[in-house]
Amino acid sequence: MHSTPPHYSKLDHGVSIQACWQHSIRVLAHAGIDAASARQETSLLLQHVMRQSLTELLCNLQHRPSREQLMQLEECLTRRTQREPIQYILGYTYFCGRRFAVDTRVLIPRQESEVLIEVARDVCHWPPLSGTPLRLADIGTGSGAIAVTLACDLPTAHILGIDISREALQVARTNIERHSVSERVSLVQGNLASMVGVTFDMVVANLPYVHSKHLPHLSPEITRFEPHTALDGGSTGLSLIFRLLTQAPGLLRAGGWLLLEVGDTQAGDVVRNLAQQSHWGSIATATDVAGAQRVVAIQRSGGSVASTNAAPVT
Ligand SMILES: C[S@@+](CC[C@H](N)C(=O)[O-])C[C@H]1O[C@@H](n2cnc3c(N)ncnc32)[C@H](O)[C@@H]1O
Repeated sequence: MHSTPPHYSKLDHGVSIQACWQHSIRVLAHAGIDAASARQETSLLLQHVMRQSLTELLCNLQHRPSREQLMQLEECLTRRTQREPIQYILGYTYFCGRRFAVDTRVLIPRQESEVLIEVARDVCHWPPLSGTPLRLADIGTGSGAIAVTLACDLPTAHILGIDISREALQVARTNIERHSVSERVSLVQGNLASMVGVTFDMVVANLPYVHSKHLPHLSPEITRFEPHTALDGGSTGLSLIFRLLTQAPGLLRAGGWLLLEVGDTQAGDVVRNLAQQSHWGSIATATDVAGAQRVVAIQRSGGSVASTNAAPVT
């Protein structure tokens, strides 16, 4: 149950949508949310509570929400003033243009991870993979956003989503069903890929990569609400990624690809680690919109050489 913080008055029954709008922006700004976000989040919360589109709301500014709607808005505002992410309050977020259910059992999919999808699509659209049945694995699948997006975009792909968290897999299951890809996406609970006995054409992984000592300094939205098993990359930030690198050669067929999302300063360390191993052919990186190297793409040696638009690492 969420209690109302003392610093703002409750909405009186009979107030208009417009008054709710102004009230909500004030409350969110008072809680330290910047002005642009307060306006945008108010719009999302009102659409959610009133079950109306933005256009409908704007046409109905003088309408009066019901008592239940006012109570629901107050509860949403209280949760947000406690810095719960808006995505958890709404119960959804968008990733690569598709809507995904999210709650505190899973990390909220980030825009940075869309780079991983772009590289994966690139690799799968090149010969020799293009048009062939594909076996992919998504390690640390969380909400299933990556696995579901790949299944929707690559109709010949069968994808195995693995996560250590049983709770996260429940959310992934919901998303798989909502996007009607149950026949091509399976889920398994596991610690990285230790129990997987098959090989894949491609393995993608957005594993936790935050340095443990940096965790307490992230925003309250992250530290208080997002699952720490989805964030904590151990004492170097790269503990899980390096563990996966030791398993990866056995997970990929010759010529198969491993795509890793990494933190914005970690690609160099990952590439140096890979250079010490003998199993790998091409190594490339891809950058996010801010120019940070976000994805390391590595091809297992042997088999046909495919390509990606990611920049080769020499
Ligand atoms: C950064 S989140 C990524 C979630 C999702 N793939 C996304 O991009 O939104 C990392 C995920 O890895 C999972 N995870 C953490 N340690 C793991 C392990 N040892 N084996 C498998 N999954 C793990 C977490 O439970 C979490 O769901």
